[in-house]
Amino acid sequence: MLALDHHPSGRHFLQIPGPSPVPDRILRALSLPTIDHRGPEFGALGLKVLAGMQQVFRTRHPVAIYPASGTGAWEAALVNTLSPGDAVLMFETGHFATLWQKMALRLGLQPEFLAVPGTDAATGLPWSWRRGVSAELIGERLRADAGHTIKAVCVVHNETSTGVTSDIAAVRRAIDAAGHPALLLVDTISGLASADYRHDEWGVDVTVSGSQKGLMLPPGISFNALSPKALDASRSAKLPRAYWGWDEIVEMNKSGYWPYTPNTNLLYGLAEALDMLLGQGLETVFARHRRWAEGVRGAVRAWGLPIQCADAALYSPVLTGVITPAGVDADALRKLIHERFDLSLGTGLGKVRGRMFRIGHLGDCNDLTLMATLAGVEMGLKLGGVALAGSGVLAAMEYFAAHPQSLPLRAAA
Ligand SMILES: Cc1ncc(COP(=O)(O)O)c(C=O)c1O
Repeated sequence: MLALDHHPSGRHFLQIPGPSPVPDRILRALSLPTIDHRGPEFGALGLKVLAGMQQVFRTRHPVAIYPASGTGAWEAALVNTLSPGDAVLMFETGHFATLWQKMALRLGLQPEFLAVPGTDAATGLPWSWRRGVSAELIGERLRADAGHTIKAVCVVHNETSTGVTSDIAAVRRAIDAAGHPALLLVDTISGLASADYRHDEWGVDVTVSGSQKGLMLPPGISFNALSPKALDASRSAKLPRAYWGWDEIVEMNKSGYWPYTPNTNLLYGLAEALDMLLGQGLETVFARHRRWAEGVRGAVRAWGLPIQCADAALYSPVLTGVITPAGVDADALRKLIHERFDLSLGTGLGKVRGRMFRIGHLGDCNDLTLMATLAGVEMGLKLGGVALAGSGVLAAMEYFAAHPQSLPLRAAA
């Protein structure tokens, strides 16, 4: 309990964009006794979570579950489908796209990193870190690749470092319009189960996700949703793989088991999360996140601070990036807010370090959790000497009061 000892009372406000707050119901499920992962009860649990995850990814095809953080599932997506030296087209949307690109380099692939060009003069931030994936640029590049040397297009759906949610269906249309056979690999580590996502309908070949965001679990399991084309590619792909190999996992998963010791207690938690999310209905879950996001953006606008996502069509329902005025160190503000109000906000990562902070609105939260969060941020901004145009707290209160959640507040038991 060491980490909690300094909190005198009440709950810590974990408002980073993942790990997200875990509902009590899931915490209780995690604490069940660990069972034999080769025994009869385990098979039923395995089959339940595998089927549930197909519903969440909206796929009829296999989903691999790894006892690993999201980074492991990134690696699994690349090593199962590609061969040493393969060209891959990646898109710079922010820090996580950059990390995936660095991983591709380290694995011996040849990533080409496209980006929306230019810098925003008002904030000094690169445009590509304020906008989404450009399907147009991808289409253009694929049309120029007449010899089809590019083997995969890799994009991040919900860029957690910026709060921009890209249009994946548009990327698929661009690949198809170019008549290009490249695989489409998508990271929705922070989008899944909070933002609308459709693996089959959008023609995604591998979708990568993780447990500690919309699924409301602690970190520790991650996913690859597959397509038949990705499974075909894995049969001839030559990058070395053993632990990550889909073949044995998919085969053993047919009976609800794994080739190695799976993360039993996290799978209990996943089963509980699936009951909550699917019991409530994914559309309800998405609508709830959109509404929270709109309330939070209303607060940011009232403060007179820029929202990092510069394209209103791509606002993330999961988090909001807030750009601090020039000369105000966003990390110093975060530190102050943490010390004074026991509230954790997301830090600016990579190229936007110190220039912004992130408010997570996902996981086990509700209107009042968000109101408290916004109050903590507003107090912190004032204490930090930031001149505010108005009260974000008042704006959010008005928004939430005027827009009652028309959908059930609680998941079915
Ligand atoms: C979009 C995205 N991709 C990849 C990762 C890396 O996942 P992990 O930290 O679970 O390894 C994260 C983590 O926050 C993420 O948000």
